[in-house]
This record gives sequence, C-alpha cells and structure tokens, in this order.
Amino acid sequence: MSTPVPVLTIDGPSGAGKGTVSRLAASRLGWHYLDSGALYRAVGVAASWADLDLADPAALVRCTFDTDVRFSEIDGNLRIFVNGSDATDELRLETTGTLASAIAAIPEVRAALKERQRAFRREPGLVADGRDMGTVIFPDATTKVFLTASAEERARRRHNQLKEKGVSVIFDGLLREILARDARDAQRTVAPLKPADDAVLIDTTGLSIEEVVDRVLALVPARAG
Ligand code: DC
Repeated sequence: MSTPVPVLTIDGPSGAGKGTVSRLAASRLGWHYLDSGALYRAVGVAASWADLDLADPAALVRCTFDTDVRFSEIDGNLRIFVNGSDATDELRLETTGTLASAIAAIPEVRAALKERQRAFRREPGLVADGRDMGTVIFPDATTKVFLTASAEERARRRHNQLKEKGVSVIFDGLLREILARDARDAQRTVAPLKPADDAVLIDTTGLSIEEVVDRVLALVPARAG
C-alpha cells in the first residue's frame, strides 16, 4: 500500500515567522513549499487591478477562479506571477495583506482555492504555510505546528523587515493593523485562525529563526522505506 505524501503544516497569525520558518524547513527537508497566503494576496491584487468592488462577493469569487498564479524560482529568488505579470513586490505590501484578509473571509473564495492548495501535495513532501493548513486543507497532515508570538514582537519584526527594504512605516500603525487583521482572521465564520487540536504550539517570542526551525524539524518523523 502506498503511504500518503507527508505534509508539515505551519499555521499562525501574520508576523509569527511562518514564511521564513516554512521556507527554511522545506529547504532542509527537500520538500515543496506552499505559501497559501500568497494565493489570497494574488486574488486581492487581481481584484484591485480589475477595480472590483470588495462588497461584491460574486465578482470576487469569479476573480478567484480566473486568477492564474505561478511561483517561479529566478536566480535563487521566488517570484510570484499573477495573470502573467510579476507581482512579487505588490503582493508583500501591508495593504495587499489587508485586502487578502478581507477577501479570505468569503466562504466561496476559500472553497475555490481548496483544490489548488491540495495540488501542491507532491512527493517527496510538502511544507504548507497559512492559517487553516492543519484544520481544513490538510487535516491528515503528518505534523502540524502553530506558531505564535506576541503582537508587539510581530509588529517589531515586520517593522524591521520593512526598514531593511527602505520602507518607512510607523510602528504603532503597524501594530494596530496586525491586531485588526488577527481579529478578522480569528473571528470569521469559515476556517477561522485557530490551532488544529493535534497541532504543536510554538511561541517564537525571543527565539531565533534557527531555533524555531530546529524545533519544528524535530517534530517531523523520519520516513520509513
Ligand atoms: O500569510 P499572509 O499574511 O500572506 O496572508 C494574508 C491574508 O490571507 C491573511 O490575513 C488571511 C488570509 N489567509 C487565509 O485566510 N488563509 C490562509 N491559509 C492564508 C492566508
């Protein structure tokens, strides 16, 4: 009997370090990587390019089906193409995250993205990063992790990331945005942000990225055969 392709799910609120930890874990395991937030962000960007009304769920659902998203590694960097255009930089903006969070609250949008996310599960394994990877998309995942960190620490990390990129933002504004996004992601009725019952919680406050990656990888069983 063939064993299912192993999946490591890494869920948690924005700024908990999921992206960096997931990418490093995938690279150390030699597994594929799914950045599910990028799919919601891509729909947000496509909707804004098409000037869609955020209060029109039917249009947003159509947009979700019509949006083509491709992940390509170019010179060692992951670039993300939306409907054929390189949208990597626009996808990372805080405003795009807020847009994605609003769109992600629409049940039909989530349903439309379900199979697309599951298609990333290919040999030799998958690291899936998001909010509902362990609860909804891959409930049978081999290992489930939920990363947390205090909102202040997450705002501080985001602030440093943006500063390194030369983007100047006000810390208090960033903290407020993070708290608002957390509240929206946690309170929505479909697939709210919450740890799966069988997820291991890791509080990353005060831990280095390497320490978190080591803790996560220690939870992944070696594959027999
Ligand atoms: O992880 P991120 O910041 O790129 O995600 C952007 C938004 O997309 C997030 O605020 C909520 C939504 N999202 C989601 O609802 N479910 C996921 N699996 C991933 C992201």
